[in-house]
Amino acid sequence: MTRKDTAQKKHPFDIVTAEFAGAIARPEDEKTLPVLGAEVAFAGRSNVGKSSLINTLAARRGLVRVSSTPGCTRQINFFNARARDELNLVLVDLPGYGFARRSKTERAEWATLIENYLAKRSTLRALVVLVDARRGVEDDDKELIDFMNAARKSPTGILCVATKLDKVPASKRAQAIQAVRKSAGVPAVGFSSETREGFDACWRAIRHAAGFTIAADATNLPVEGA
Ligand code: GTP
Ligand code: MG
Repeated sequence: MTRKDTAQKKHPFDIVTAEFAGAIARPEDEKTLPVLGAEVAFAGRSNVGKSSLINTLAARRGLVRVSSTPGCTRQINFFNARARDELNLVLVDLPGYGFARRSKTERAEWATLIENYLAKRSTLRALVVLVDARRGVEDDDKELIDFMNAARKSPTGILCVATKLDKVPASKRAQAIQAVRKSAGVPAVGFSSETREGFDACWRAIRHAAGFTIAADATNLPVEGA
């Protein structure tokens, strides 16, 4: 399937409107955030592609700031997104972990901020853990998954997304995703923000992890302007 074909298909999970909804930089600020809908949080090492994934999933190039410098996202950013089937989801961009060039105090503050959010936020329905498809699941990622399983009283769906799939030779992609699935112990899909490979599978897996079914698949809807 070509990139054009994928882009033209319409799905119930496509995001039709998305906007910045707020940010928190300290744990105590969480209370100030309005509850807009079920939240899906994106976590992973610095530079793994969290902000890019959110932009691609929301089909908004400039919604979230992306940078080649690790440590770009330094607070928790919330984006309100409405899907074609009218499901409202809040996409939550978390600061990356594993970035060594920060002071110990700063890293500890970030850990507190992220852990507090992940453990306590009542509207959090799914955690998406991004790993680089070339590197697979690393210790920090495993720790996060273990933390999440231990911290949450109500079950929260956990999903692994193997990013930068375009950097893995096509013949090795299925194997790389399978390896991530096995070592993470949670469902995994592959994704590329460059080519949009894995776009549909990723949305379906996120919906599933968050406990939302996709009622009718509208892939055959006519394309606007075609
Ligand atoms: P922090 O905010 O620092 O934690 O980083 P992040 O995880 O949000 O990563 P971000 O989306 O800012 O992307 C980091 C770099 O990787 C940027 O230069 C992106 O263009 C690049 N990148 C992200 N996703 C992909 C991908 O799927 N393929 C390729 N080739 N590059 C990607
Ligand atoms: Mg970022």
